[in-house]
Amino acid sequence: MLNKEEREGVYKAIKGRRDIRSFLPDPISPEKLENILKAAHHGPSVGYMQPWDFIIITSAEQKKALAKICEKEVKALAIHYEDEKKTKFLSLKLEGIQEAPVTICITCDPTRGGNHVLGRNSIPETDILSVACGIQNMWLSAYAEGIAMGWVSFYKKADVRELLKIPYHIDPIALVSLGYTEHYPARPILEEEKWEKKRPFEDTLHYGEW
Ligand SMILES: Cc1cc2nc3c(=O)[nH]c(=O)nc-3n(C[C@H](O)[C@H](O)[C@H](O)COP(=O)(O)O)c2cc1C
Repeated sequence: MLNKEEREGVYKAIKGRRDIRSFLPDPISPEKLENILKAAHHGPSVGYMQPWDFIIITSAEQKKALAKICEKEVKALAIHYEDEKKTKFLSLKLEGIQEAPVTICITCDPTRGGNHVLGRNSIPETDILSVACGIQNMWLSAYAEGIAMGWVSFYKKADVRELLKIPYHIDPIALVSLGYTEHYPARPILEEEKWEKKRPFEDTLHYGEW
């Protein structure tokens, strides 16, 4: 069990963690990076299938190519917005892959564990949910290590598969940039940018039925 100070530390990380897209070029020590990756590997997974793998990207050339893939997708998605909202969308900084010293591609292998992974027969996407649990662990671990992290999902999986030579049956679930930052805001950036508001907690609660 946790003592009071440790408990407060957990809640501090949960509340203080932010999605960050602006990074300094300073490198992350191998120890810190290992701690963050191990945090993901300690995550829960359906039937203990541990469907994740991590591709660690540090070369300028690969980062440039990844950023290009994301820029292409952002431009393609701008079609969903009109007028002011479109201008606002295109002004948002949605990734910091080129600046960040390291970006991790986190993948999901839906075949890991064979045809009958305990608990996954009913809800197949529990493999991806398991990977997401690991990514949240990375986020909290990064926060504890004083490292900023940004989750990037603006890309076509086929583009990322081709660039990183990922086999067709493996899903690139997330690109996660890690690095030090100058600005670690108290509130979500999308809130600061007036893109979206936090839903009141009370509105999320239902008692007995929906
Ligand atoms: C599955 C997932 C995908 C996300 N993809 C992106 C992304 O592509 N670009 C981006 O800027 N933020 C991305 N985010 C971060 C969210 O915008 C961010 O979590 C949200 O605005 C709340 O801010 P906070 O994480 O600082 O609390 C993603 C978050 C999740 C959970």
